[in-house]
Amino acid sequence: MLDALKDELLSQVNAAGDLAALEEVRVTALGKKGRITGFMKELGGLSPDERRERGQQLNALKDEIAAAIDSRKADLARAHLEARLQAERIDVTLPVRPETEGRIHPISQTIDEMVAIFAEMGFSVAEGPDVEDDFHNFTALNFPPGHPARDMHDTFYLPDAGDKKMLLRTHTSPVQVRTMLNKKPPIRIIAPGRTYRSDYDMTHTPMFHQIEGLVIDEATHMGHLKGCLIEFCRAFFDVDDLPLRFRPSFFPFTEPSAEVDIGCSRKGGELKLGNYGDWLEILGCGMVHPNVLEACGIDSTRYQGFAFGMGIERVAMLKYGIPDLRTFFEADLRWLKHYGFVPLDVPSMAQGLTR
Ligand code: DAH
Repeated sequence: MLDALKDELLSQVNAAGDLAALEEVRVTALGKKGRITGFMKELGGLSPDERRERGQQLNALKDEIAAAIDSRKADLARAHLEARLQAERIDVTLPVRPETEGRIHPISQTIDEMVAIFAEMGFSVAEGPDVEDDFHNFTALNFPPGHPARDMHDTFYLPDAGDKKMLLRTHTSPVQVRTMLNKKPPIRIIAPGRTYRSDYDMTHTPMFHQIEGLVIDEATHMGHLKGCLIEFCRAFFDVDDLPLRFRPSFFPFTEPSAEVDIGCSRKGGELKLGNYGDWLEILGCGMVHPNVLEACGIDSTRYQGFAFGMGIERVAMLKYGIPDLRTFFEADLRWLKHYGFVPLDVPSMAQGLTR
């Protein structure tokens, strides 16, 4: 009878397909209410001789079943591992993944580089809407109504809706206004983004990009402006001794105002950046006009600061030798393949910018 039980239990052990099924078999055989345990409980009713003999048989059976369970458990674990190894197999002889096809547009790349440099100096990135109103784009920036500087911007006005005159922002300077209206000094932001003017030729597209900078604090002065822009230009163009020239200029929203030229050479029709005696204009800047501070609710007797604005396409063209502005927005894949950047080359000051 015990032989029949043994065969039955052994075949159950071997039939158990996983650890849970095996545990069930163990409980049926050796658990508190298990079948072998049941026989053990009956030993008390036997004569001493019978009890010894039966006890030995039952113990042997118990050991045999326990050993069979252990060995089945090991088999199952091995099979499980084997299956995992098969499933998770990596074929190291496969060729490396081909380079991604997509490219980062030079504008995105240039913005990433600029943000990396200014972030290192402690600037944060601010944003504003592309569709602006006259107040943020002009009035708060000290362009009085009817001021001739408004006409220089070739503004795209939106159809009249309500009392506010809406337009596509002509520069990123309205982000200055929004930032000052919403934040208390000290302020240190840059604002890259799209801008719009009704113009189209070799050097103008109706949509283009600018980056704006704004620093407002109690003692920020023109020296800080110069230091900041010198540092930026040398890092961005990767020319350590790049000379900068601050030329007096006019913007309604800064006083004094300056335009910045960087050193270059145009010898032989080739443009090279560096200390070569020739100059190329790249940005506008100045000390924020007290009227602008006051229009934005900032006490101009206590606070002052500087601002700057730069065309992103222009510096991208210079840095990467891209000859025609219009090609930026033609969505020509061959152009993008040529001038675009591999997505994994993320610019940072620590790992270096692209050259
Ligand atoms: N907003 C000016 C433009 O579009 C650029 C500019 C000049 C911005 C001087 C500034 C600045 O913040 O201080 O031509």
